[in-house]
Amino acid sequence: MAHRITLIPGDGIGPEVAEATRTVLDASGVEIEWIEKEAGGDHIHKYGTPLPEGTLASIRETKVALKGPITTPVGSGFPSVNVTIRKELDLYANYRPAKVLPGVPTRYERVDTIIIRENTEGLYSGLEHLVVPGVVESQRIITEHGSQRILRFAFELARKQGRKKVTAVHKANILKLSDGLFLEVARAIARDYPDIEFEDAIVDATAMRLVMDPTQFDVLVMENLFGDILSDLSSGLIGGLGMAPSANIGEKYSVFEAVHGSAPDIAGKGLANPTALILSGVLMLHHIGEGEAAARIEKAVERTLSDPANRTGDLGGSAGTKDYVNALLENLKAG
Ligand code: NAI
Repeated sequence: MAHRITLIPGDGIGPEVAEATRTVLDASGVEIEWIEKEAGGDHIHKYGTPLPEGTLASIRETKVALKGPITTPVGSGFPSVNVTIRKELDLYANYRPAKVLPGVPTRYERVDTIIIRENTEGLYSGLEHLVVPGVVESQRIITEHGSQRILRFAFELARKQGRKKVTAVHKANILKLSDGLFLEVARAIARDYPDIEFEDAIVDATAMRLVMDPTQFDVLVMENLFGDILSDLSSGLIGGLGMAPSANIGEKYSVFEAVHGSAPDIAGKGLANPTALILSGVLMLHHIGEGEAAARIEKAVERTLSDPANRTGDLGGSAGTKDYVNALLENLKAG
């Protein structure tokens, strides 16, 4: 029976990379019934909101979605569609692996880290108000429950994937109450996993250590904003945002999307690197029990990128999105 998956192409480069991903996943032989749904600023005139109820309802029904990036306008207006989806569906764990693929030109030959970002709390609570003109207050929410479930998720994942170390990243030296709570929970949960090495690290020093020598890290777990920033940094270690996949996981639903945004500077030009969303699709295939096809696609991506002629502009090449996808389809067929 075909897997039913909600597909949200998004905006900017979203439709281009979503189409590329759908083509590659379909070519892998996995039977997928795609339920295409809209979201993003382009749809406000039609629905009065960038996130139509039908889109959320579809994810609630299919339980799994593949999502292209969606622009979040700066300033006032509607809340971010991305943040709303994560909160509405309680997708509390954002899983962001950063692995150098053979053949991709990068500063380091070997990077293989996973950032686990808490996805529903922190400064993304959306609780902001004007205290008096010229003074604004934003609330950063850290709860014991939220910290426990994200830390347990990180340790369970480390154990399942045979990883050696978990680093809890924080700023408890300054944010003594909020990050103090996160750190206290981290230390308590680490005691349940004596087989996994545990360390805690301050976020600013972690940024420096990641740039100097990323091989000293394995699984890193942190609150929302720190995870947002350090995962973009990590994507810079593996070839850039065009290479970084992610998964938003909750108890009931999962949404797979690239780390990158809608890239308005290159949208509509056929220049986007679709690898990040294709690899997010690979994570999705693992999640729905199609590991064999996932491994075949991953191998074909590696083979495709090892030829400089197939690389897009962000990787120093001159291939367009379609050239890359065509080469990838050939490699997938060749097996
Ligand atoms: P961005 O990730 O869209 O772009 C940053 C830079 O990376 C740009 O130069 C862009 O051309 C390049 N880039 C990104 N993805 C690429 C790809 N696949 N291939 C080649 N080059 C790529 O970040 P930016 O400009 O800060 O955000 C643009 C919009 O996207 C904003 O409205 C932001 O809020 C939104 N956004 C949405 C996300 C989502 O839907 N999950 C995540 C991050 C940002």
